[in-house]
Amino acid sequence: MNYRNKIFVWQYLESYKKDKKKILNIVDKVFRSGQLILGNEVKNFENNFSKFTNNKYSVGVNSGTDALQIALMSIGIKKNDEVITVSNTAVPTVSAIVSCGAKPIYVDINENDFLIDTSLIEEKITNKTKAIVPVNLYGQSANYEIIKKIAKKYKIKVIEDCAQSSGAFYKNQPSGSHGDLSAFSFYPTKNLGGYGDGGMIVTNNKKFYNKCLMLRKYGMSKLYYSNFHGINSRLDEVQAAILNYKLKKLNYNIKIRRNIAKIYNDNLDKTDLILPTENEDNYHSYYVYVVRHKKRDKIMKYLSNNNIFCNISYPYPIHSMKGYKKLTKDFNLKVTNKVSKQIFSLPMYPELSDKKIDKIIKVLKNF
Ligand SMILES: Cc1ncc(COP(=O)(O)O)c(C=O)c1O
Repeated sequence: MNYRNKIFVWQYLESYKKDKKKILNIVDKVFRSGQLILGNEVKNFENNFSKFTNNKYSVGVNSGTDALQIALMSIGIKKNDEVITVSNTAVPTVSAIVSCGAKPIYVDINENDFLIDTSLIEEKITNKTKAIVPVNLYGQSANYEIIKKIAKKYKIKVIEDCAQSSGAFYKNQPSGSHGDLSAFSFYPTKNLGGYGDGGMIVTNNKKFYNKCLMLRKYGMSKLYYSNFHGINSRLDEVQAAILNYKLKKLNYNIKIRRNIAKIYNDNLDKTDLILPTENEDNYHSYYVYVVRHKKRDKIMKYLSNNNIFCNISYPYPIHSMKGYKKLTKDFNLKVTNKVSKQIFSLPMYPELSDKKIDKIIKVLKNF
């Protein structure tokens, strides 16, 4: 891939070029260790990640999707339960709920921050509601002060979808420290991304922790004996070792992301783009920098003609997809529907050079 002249929304090759020696040493060390699955590297990374997110326990798993599913299974989500979430999210938020046999119930989002509109949650709660899965979308945390009050009132659990919010803060507390359990993704594009799939569940609850440990390994607490139905979802030693190394740089990399966001904010405020906002009490980790434009398709085409390749997170709300639309009928998702036609993401990753940022700004100003 020629990444010199083209500007992609995200790519990892520049980061790999910088880190190649270190990464290959890490891989070699793991290969020579004699332990490839659930060994010391996973344990170390779990311990460090617990500290990083201010939790007592972490469970490394195969992906963010599995982290969500296992977290849901650990609190006993099952067939016919209802789980409240949003429709403007990645498919896995909803697929994890559906994999447990439960029904996703969608709440609309705020137009300014794309996060769950907490004023609409209570009207969706029924006696089947067992959990809320707020999504910390684009790198910004949902309003947990209100969400936790609602959860307490109705005795339901909160599972944070932190796939996009590693390193973000809400009220000075790390993303992943607000829910009963929280689920992270280490998919390569993420702020803390591996060189393959990976995920993590974090919690302060020992009972849920022990359940998650067993669920990730066929429901086993001892070898070859399942206590209940589980799945196979183990974080491997290579990814854990690489992620442990990358975790040390995460805060610094988020500072760079925030700086890029500031440059975009300062230079694009007089254009027709609607720029993202950082809520009070939030420390946005800018996993993606999402703007809105009424002529979204036209501006994206113009950008790609100038070798700037953006993407859309997400062009199709989940409730509108063939695979999911039969599950839920009660939609009143006006904001979700509206913004899904306008949003797109500008290039954002720590190695994005000043020269490329200048070009993006110049091209956008000339639209
Ligand atoms: C909001 C959200 N939830 C869940 C996931 C699932 O993570 P993974 O791709 O690691 O399964 C992702 C990532 O794709 C995501 O962006």
